[in-house]
Amino acid sequence: MDELELPSDPITQLQAWLGEAGAVVAEPTAMTLATADEHGRPSARVVLLRGLDERGLVFFTNRESRKGRELRVNPRAAAVFHWWTLGRQVRVEGAVEESAAEESRAYWKSRPRGSQIAAWASPQSEPLESRSELNDRVAMVSARFDGGEVPLPEHWGGYRIVPDVVEFWTHRDDRLHDRIRFLRERSGWRRERLAP
Ligand SMILES: Cc1cc2nc3c(=O)[nH]c(=O)nc-3n(C[C@H](O)[C@H](O)[C@H](O)COP(=O)(O)O)c2cc1C
Repeated sequence: MDELELPSDPITQLQAWLGEAGAVVAEPTAMTLATADEHGRPSARVVLLRGLDERGLVFFTNRESRKGRELRVNPRAAAVFHWWTLGRQVRVEGAVEESAAEESRAYWKSRPRGSQIAAWASPQSEPLESRSELNDRVAMVSARFDGGEVPLPEHWGGYRIVPDVVEFWTHRDDRLHDRIRFLRERSGWRRERLAP
């Protein structure tokens, strides 16, 4: 990876790598998302990238989930993509904002009905008595919206990571990997090479 051949902004580069990963990886948009609570205690889980443009990276989730609660008190996140077969990793860090209701609604409408029912039925991140409690909740929600449209729940929506740091990593022999980091500055993105 030659820093001089990279585009001047990391979003274009990430779009290119996602496109290439799509040809060889089952779910290239899966990213590990790290958040932290008010004491700085971190937590991480995988979510799917559902939107990417110059404004940032969008994923959707339950706003009352652990990650949702952590983002409320500490609206920053880090995300990592890793595509083993390509020997590539991308790291993103930035502030997180809730995406507009319209954006959440548009994505919600594209979801399969079963996923919409699950978003109503599952109190994400809360303890459950048993699997049958979840099944009962699904049955109740299915009956409630029987045949009709399943509306967007208030507790569900998108978040946008507005990146201020993006690092592209490629595997090289003998652990002498390439690492190029983009840093957002007032005048635009600055690039630097990091030691592996
Ligand atoms: C491949 C994969 C994709 C996932 N995508 C999402 C997603 O887009 N949104 C989401 O809320 N959870 C997604 N999950 C589930 C999360 O990893 C996690 O279990 C859930 O969001 C609860 O996390 P939390 O308790 O830390 O908030 C996905 C899991 C996997 C393995």
